[in-house]
Amino acid sequence: MTPPTQHAIFSRARRAVIIGAGSALPDKILDNAALEKMVDTSDEWITSRTGIKQRRIIAEGQSTATLALAAAQRALAGAGLRGADLDLIICATITPEMVFPATACFVQDGLGAQGCCAFDLAAACSGFTYGIGTAAAFIAAGQADHALVLGAETLSTITNYQDRSSCILFGDGAGAVVLEARDDTDRGVLYSSLHADGGGWETLSCRAYGSRHPVSRPLDDPNKVFMWVRGRETYQLAVRRIVEMIEEAYHALGIGNDDVALFIPHQMNARIIESAIKRLDLPPEKVFMNIDRYGNTSSASIAIGLDEALRGGAARQGDLVLLVAFGAGLTWAVNLIRL
Ligand code: ACO
Repeated sequence: MTPPTQHAIFSRARRAVIIGAGSALPDKILDNAALEKMVDTSDEWITSRTGIKQRRIIAEGQSTATLALAAAQRALAGAGLRGADLDLIICATITPEMVFPATACFVQDGLGAQGCCAFDLAAACSGFTYGIGTAAAFIAAGQADHALVLGAETLSTITNYQDRSSCILFGDGAGAVVLEARDDTDRGVLYSSLHADGGGWETLSCRAYGSRHPVSRPLDDPNKVFMWVRGRETYQLAVRRIVEMIEEAYHALGIGNDDVALFIPHQMNARIIESAIKRLDLPPEKVFMNIDRYGNTSSASIAIGLDEALRGGAARQGDLVLLVAFGAGLTWAVNLIRL
């Protein structure tokens, strides 16, 4: 028996090519000065430990599905498609619209994409990279011609704004891409590797209100409704996994730093990204960062980064782009995409 492998190298015969991208951020800004008034912290501490200056937070009437739908509409407009053209919608989120139905179904309804396959994917901060890998496999298998992949979060809804060690980190937002099946092409998702280790679940979690701590029973600890983050542990594991995954991808494809035009890492902490840059000897100018403006938006962060890189010219047609993430699960994943 062949040993199982987590990675896929997609054949040029049929690949998933990005033909549109979009993102949506709430207008409301929560900056470090505002947090100074809420908890015992300072702009200097937050900036030097995380690189974050401000985050976007939803207002009344906004939710994960409204952000996701706005990002999806922009991505579809960029692709020149209508909702009805989609065969697959994957929405990566850990802050879904409801327990059920899936947030992807709300997006589908808003786009008028009735009938196609639509589901949510819970891989926390690795969600968008998991979504790209999954959609690329659907396309390679001939099960979809046009796929919409979203990362959408309203982390402010599960953030404890009395806990200074976590509330400084998180923000809300959504990003999306449209993938199209193309035959015999150098472009598209070339490589994807998806990993998890459930043994590390306690490192990052939000414990209520699943079946273990149902809404019908009083919680033994009211803080279980909020995200719980073992910051130092996450930091160390994230650096190690990001380095391992990039080295694994280089080895699988026989490439190196010079071949990659742009790295878009999950925006969890600027220092985590800087440590990985140092260990891999990456040129910092090739590493996309927007954490100063949005904080950590979990599954949305790479999707928003990719949209901004495409719109701002940091990533161009023909470039090889590497997406890499680490998050709760624990999960970690990497995609290599020729634009
Ligand atoms: N302001 C001032 N002081 C603070 C703050 C704050 N906001 N937060 C913590 N401190 C204090 C601590 O109480 C501690 O004080 P002590 O030494 O007197 O006990 C001191 O600062 C150092 O605390 P550490 O936790 O060791 O600080 P560290 O340098 O590790 O930075 C941080 C903490 C920013 C959380 C970092 O570990 C980190 O970013 N980790 C990654 C977290 C993350 O992004 N996780 C992603 C989860 S997302 C998901 O999966 C949904």
